[in-house]
Amino acid sequence: MTQTIKTPSRSRSQQWFERARRSLVEGVNSPSRGAAVYTAGPILLERGQGSHVWDADGNEYIDFMMSFGALIQGHAHPTLVKTVSEAMAEGSHFAAATSAEIEAAERFRRMVPSAEAVRFTNTGSEATMLALRLARAHTGRHKFLKFEGHYHGWYDPFLLNAHSHPPEQLGPVENPARIPDSAGIPNSTFDDVVIAPWNDVKTVERVLRQHGHELAAVITEPIMANMGCILPRHGYLQRLRELTRECGALLILDEVVTGFRYAPGGCQEYYGVSPDLSTFGKALGAGFPVGAVGGPRSILDRMQWGENMVLHYGTFNGHRLTMKVVAANLDMLTANTYLELHRVGNSAVAGLREVFRRHEIKAIVQGFGPMFQIYFTDREAICDYRDYCKYVDAQRYSQFVHRLLELGVYMTPSNGLHWIISTAHTLADVAALVEAADQACSGLA
Ligand SMILES: Cc1ncc(COP(=O)(O)O)c(C=O)c1O
Repeated sequence: MTQTIKTPSRSRSQQWFERARRSLVEGVNSPSRGAAVYTAGPILLERGQGSHVWDADGNEYIDFMMSFGALIQGHAHPTLVKTVSEAMAEGSHFAAATSAEIEAAERFRRMVPSAEAVRFTNTGSEATMLALRLARAHTGRHKFLKFEGHYHGWYDPFLLNAHSHPPEQLGPVENPARIPDSAGIPNSTFDDVVIAPWNDVKTVERVLRQHGHELAAVITEPIMANMGCILPRHGYLQRLRELTRECGALLILDEVVTGFRYAPGGCQEYYGVSPDLSTFGKALGAGFPVGAVGGPRSILDRMQWGENMVLHYGTFNGHRLTMKVVAANLDMLTANTYLELHRVGNSAVAGLREVFRRHEIKAIVQGFGPMFQIYFTDREAICDYRDYCKYVDAQRYSQFVHRLLELGVYMTPSNGLHWIISTAHTLADVAALVEAADQACSGLA
């Protein structure tokens, strides 16, 4: 088949990138936005509207990255633009009690039944950090269990085995190698971390038999969202709930990615699992920086002022503009919204699967509805971190996405992330994606 890909001009992006490198590390504010992922350097995005974005050279794309999932209402949603403009005219933030944070909290609690109370933070990382501190204070234990390949933000103790590595470095399943994700963290930080493979009931039963009595918490993403999109095996999360209860460790469900995405109450509602604490971010703020910890009063009230309180300060906690956006965003997320997100997303999944089938390319599309990922692999499914490290051709994925970028589809070339459907996406966007994928497959090495 003939190659139809044309390279759009990116000269302005390149000029900005040259400038950026003089002031910013690698020209960006997070490696996932820069040359580590985009081979020709970052594409500078200047404007977004609905499901579309425009780069510095005026090229238009359908955006399926949606700010790593933060933009559940797409770009510049008119209701949110109005909300922010009006709130800004009254003063952005007071660092004092406001009606805005109460209205946001009431809506949050209505949607997340496991949250008798909520505490807002500024990012998902702060939310998981706080959840761990609460769990430690509540149980009087220090250790916690995290799973291989799960990312919970950039707080020191979570930065173990969160990146993918060549299979030979992973160590045995029974005793995984402990691989720090960052320099600058003392090894002693990880003394309190127990690592286990995910999605394997037998293994977690064994690990919890051994360590359960000393664990403050088990933290898990309900759907693994930082190795693409890996679904929990049937009954896995429920079994984890039972096991954590038996050993007195709290179950922290990290819903920073999945929260307000799969169902009004996130994956805890979708899969029917009731965590002790859950953490949120991304879609909660519809593009504004926010995180949240929800849970029972018996745990959250440990932050009450006094001796032995759990400290959580922050000038920008409950930021007034953000709280206004949270309330307006949550008001728009009705049962119908989720039907539509699933309908549009499932049609994208089906369309992409059909493209790979037609081209006889060994690739699977995993996930459903509002979030999914493509894996170039011989396997029928990618079920855990080790599958991802062993069987996924992330280079080929990057090559594929770079071709899509030439065809007006915006997505990160990092296979560890995932495709996002927002309320702004339509079946016409899906049709354009499927057509672009069809072209991108032609001549894929
Ligand atoms: C599951 C999960 N938890 C926590 C975080 C951290 O959130 P933030 O980037 O807002 O700090 C992320 C970020 O991608 C995440 O995917």
